[in-house]
Amino acid sequence: MARCLVTRALPGPALERLRADHEVSVWPGARPPTPVELAAEAAGAHGLLTMLTDRVDTALLDACPHLRAVANYAVGYDNIDLEATRARGIAVGNTPDVLTEATADLAFALLLAAARGLPAAQASVLAGQWQTWEPAAYLGRDVHGATLGIVGMGRIGRAVAARAAGFDMEVIHTGRGGVTFLALLARSDFISLHCPLTPETHHLIDEAALIEMKPTAILVNTARGPIVDPVALREALRAGEIAGAALDVTDPEPLGADDPLLTAPNLIVVPHIGSATVATRQTMAELAVDNLLAALAGDPMPHGVD
Ligand code: DGY
Repeated sequence: MARCLVTRALPGPALERLRADHEVSVWPGARPPTPVELAAEAAGAHGLLTMLTDRVDTALLDACPHLRAVANYAVGYDNIDLEATRARGIAVGNTPDVLTEATADLAFALLLAAARGLPAAQASVLAGQWQTWEPAAYLGRDVHGATLGIVGMGRIGRAVAARAAGFDMEVIHTGRGGVTFLALLARSDFISLHCPLTPETHHLIDEAALIEMKPTAILVNTARGPIVDPVALREALRAGEIAGAALDVTDPEPLGADDPLLTAPNLIVVPHIGSATVATRQTMAELAVDNLLAALAGDPMPHGVD
C-alpha cells in the first residue's frame, strides 16, 4: 500500500478506486497549498495527484524522497519540471483528450460572447439602460464568414476549427500546411490560442504581435495566461489596436479584482473554466487515478507525458 496525496478535493467517485488500494489524503483547504505546505504534506508520499496550481519543482521533489508518480489533473503540465522528475525516475501523467470538447466549447463561447458584446449588453439590461430597440446600439461583429486564426493546431485547436466550420468561418492556422504566424496575425478576424506554454510561446502575443493584428480583431485565450503579455494586451485594448479579447486564462492566476488588466475596455475574463463541466472534471479524475494506480503498480502510466 502506497501513500498518496491529492492536492484538492475532486468531483466524482474516482478517488474511491485509489483508496481501495492505497492510503489517500486530500488537502483539505479551500485554497491550494502553498509550496511550503505542499512540501510538508507530500513529504512521505509515493504518489501525488496534483493540480495546475501546484509547482512540482526541485524544491518539492527534494522534500519527497519516496515519490514515484505524479498524476497532473490537467492536460497541460507546464507546472511540472520534467527534467527534475526524469532525473529522479518519477513517472508523470496528464489527462488528455477528455477535456478537448469542453475546452473547445468554451473557446467558442468566448469568441461569440466577445463578437456580440454579450457581457456589456447584459450589464446594460441589469443597469436599467435598455430603453428601446435601437438601430445603432449594441452592434457587434459577424462571426459567420469571418476568418479564425488558430495558433496551436493540436487536439483542442482542431476541435475549435470543427466548430468554426459550422459557423461558415474560414480557418487558418500555424500548424503543418498552415500559414506563418505573421500572416495569421494580419489576416484573422478572430485569433484563438491553443498552444502549450513553453519558453518559445511565453509572451508569443506581445506588443509587436498585437500591432500586426487587425484593429477589428478579437483575441481568445483558453490555453495558458503567460502566452499573452498582459501589459501589452491592456495597452492594445486601450489604444484600439485590437477590438477585444476574451480570456479564460491570465497571468497571474487568479487575477485580482484590482488587476490593471481589468481596466481595459472590451475585455472578457472568466476564471480558467475551460474544462469545467461536471462530466469532464469527473473523467479527468478517473484518468488521473488510472495514471497513479498504474505507476504505483510499476506499470507505465496510460497517459504518461514523459
Ligand atoms: C488543462 O487541463 O490544462 C486545463 O487548463 C484545465 O483543465
